[in-house]
Amino acid sequence: MPSPKKVRVAVIGCGVISELHLRCFAHNPHAEVVAVCDLVPERAERAARERAPGARWTTRAAEIFADPSIDAVSICTDHASHCRLACAALAAGKHVLCEKSLARTAADLRRMLAAAKAHPDRVAAGVFQHRFEPLPRVLRELVAEGAFGRLLTAAGSLYTLRDDDYFRKDAWRGTIRGEGGSVLINQSIHYFDLLLWIAGGAASARAYSANLGHEGSIETEDTVAIALRMRNGALGSFVATSAGMRQWETDLVFQGTAGSVEMRDDRLFSLVLADKAAERRVRARVDRALAAGAKLFPKGKDYYGPGHQAQIDDFVRAVRTGARPYVTFADAAESDAMVFAAYASAARR
Ligand SMILES: NC(=O)c1ccc[n+]([C@@H]2O[C@H](COP(=O)([O-])OP(=O)(O)OC[C@H]3O[C@@H](n4cnc5c(N)ncnc54)[C@H](O)[C@@H]3O)[C@@H](O)[C@H]2O)c1
Repeated sequence: MPSPKKVRVAVIGCGVISELHLRCFAHNPHAEVVAVCDLVPERAERAARERAPGARWTTRAAEIFADPSIDAVSICTDHASHCRLACAALAAGKHVLCEKSLARTAADLRRMLAAAKAHPDRVAAGVFQHRFEPLPRVLRELVAEGAFGRLLTAAGSLYTLRDDDYFRKDAWRGTIRGEGGSVLINQSIHYFDLLLWIAGGAASARAYSANLGHEGSIETEDTVAIALRMRNGALGSFVATSAGMRQWETDLVFQGTAGSVEMRDDRLFSLVLADKAAERRVRARVDRALAAGAKLFPKGKDYYGPGHQAQIDDFVRAVRTGARPYVTFADAAESDAMVFAAYASAARR
């Protein structure tokens, strides 16, 4: 039985992404944001005033953790603070939703997984909102069912531009200490995650990384190229840059022995099967999934995609019912672990 009382939530970190979290929690009838927190008092005060009327604000996350009336926290801070905040929140008995990248380093990731394991009665969920969209979901099912035959290759890319002003805006961006990396761990992590998730998970990653367009401006990589071996034996590749001329361009292509499918800019771009009757059936299934999804996600979208509402609803449901969230820390950690494997490989060269 779901608990009849509303889930009392605190949002920690009141920067760019918090606005979307606050909007999604406000939209959920079973949750209420009762507190917001940011190290910068003006940000916390403004978030409470504009996005969570009635919520109190603070600059100290410890106050949130010490408040027994708060059930759950949503962590919307820089990468480096995720581990400390999530572990403290779980230790204080809070349910946790943590933005991507779950961790800044492999060691932090291990600590967060251990904290989640130590508190199995608490929900520990990692944000990968694109996993809630209908197209990636149905493609993952189709690949797992062998609709494209044996998977041979999985290739992904993200091309975008982040200018120097973007990195200057906040001190943590473009730094190893604050961000842990750049284009891979931040801008392109969603598409790297979808590539691995749809292909059935990766076993290993080798990589090159470089700073080709932001020399003197950031210490982290703006360009990455990764070779992957998937658990099912397929081989993969991923390239991304934040120094290009494109605003935002993404591509995921899966080739199997019986057919292929390509998702470009979040849309189905091509679907080809050798067996044309099978192709019609698969296409009809994708169309049905997309039509059902269009009802679920009626709003327009920017490049964050429409999945945050679905993920926040899923988190609230998991807190109320004790059910497993769709993306646990352990689920999100699979892609994070490959990010850190790629960075370690790039550093060795
Ligand atoms: N899922 C998505 O599509 C998506 C999109 C954008 C950002 N993000 C992620 O969201 C997180 C935040 O990104 P952003 O762009 O909103 O950053 P931001 O810099 O705009 O905001 C982060 C805020 O956290 C505050 N903060 C840092 N440490 C804190 C602490 N210990 N206690 C309280 N407040 C603290 C900072 O003062 C800042 O206001 C990052 O992990 C980022 O990768 C996810």
